[in-house]
Amino acid sequence: MASPSRGGATAPQALQSWDPGRYARNARFVADLGEPLLALLDPRPGERILDIGCGDGALTLKLAETGAAVVGIDSAPEQVRAARALGLDAHVADGQALAFDGEFDGILSNAALHWMRHPDAAIDSMWRALRPGGRIAAEMGGRGNVATIHAALVGELERLGIDAAAADPWYFPTVADYRQRLEGAGFRVERIELLPRPTPLPGELADWLQTFGEAFFAAVPAEQQQALIDNVVQTAGPTLRQDDGSWVADYVRLRFLAVKPPQ
Ligand code: BEZ
Repeated sequence: MASPSRGGATAPQALQSWDPGRYARNARFVADLGEPLLALLDPRPGERILDIGCGDGALTLKLAETGAAVVGIDSAPEQVRAARALGLDAHVADGQALAFDGEFDGILSNAALHWMRHPDAAIDSMWRALRPGGRIAAEMGGRGNVATIHAALVGELERLGIDAAAADPWYFPTVADYRQRLEGAGFRVERIELLPRPTPLPGELADWLQTFGEAFFAAVPAEQQQALIDNVVQTAGPTLRQDDGSWVADYVRLRFLAVKPPQ
């Protein structure tokens, strides 16, 4: 296959690293909770499906088990290696600059599009990758996602005089924003909704921050990073820590089904 990506990833998301072991320990729930997307996509045996942001391949494997011919892409080489170790056809590529041309019946994307700070480029990539009549079933962080954690991170950076907006790797759009972008590109939006989904974390909030918040820490001198984590944990505790000491993060998903109209 030719290179699936037309360009490289850009900061600040590029500052995030994806260690498959750490991801499996702290983020297995991401793929587990993504399963409703399979039903929304409704893949049929033999269909060609692109998984954008395949990560370590846990959900991609379930997609492949439906009998679809699946290609996964992810910007993280270490995650792509983990996906290939499962026997998947996975490639390193930037979802905002895909080189696929009309070759997929469907696209699935779980918890990846909020890492793409150029949403119109991501939507254009998906449009080009689909054949006419093809569809996208996707879920990403929506407006208000992890709001308590996000506000605490931003507050800490601002306290240190750092430009939090420049360091922020996340894009959590409203329904109206993403609908407008999809329709602007030509998609017919069949469904789009914000779904509050309080999410129990498998461990400490500090572990979650180290797994997902690296781009924020990269903006801070190394000797201040632990204090930043401690302060965020302290600030978020009263809202997110449960009586038994466990953590429930305030996830809000934006889930949609959109179709590239037949010609
Ligand atoms: C999410 O999947 O909603 C998410 C992932 C990384 C950071 C924040 C939120």
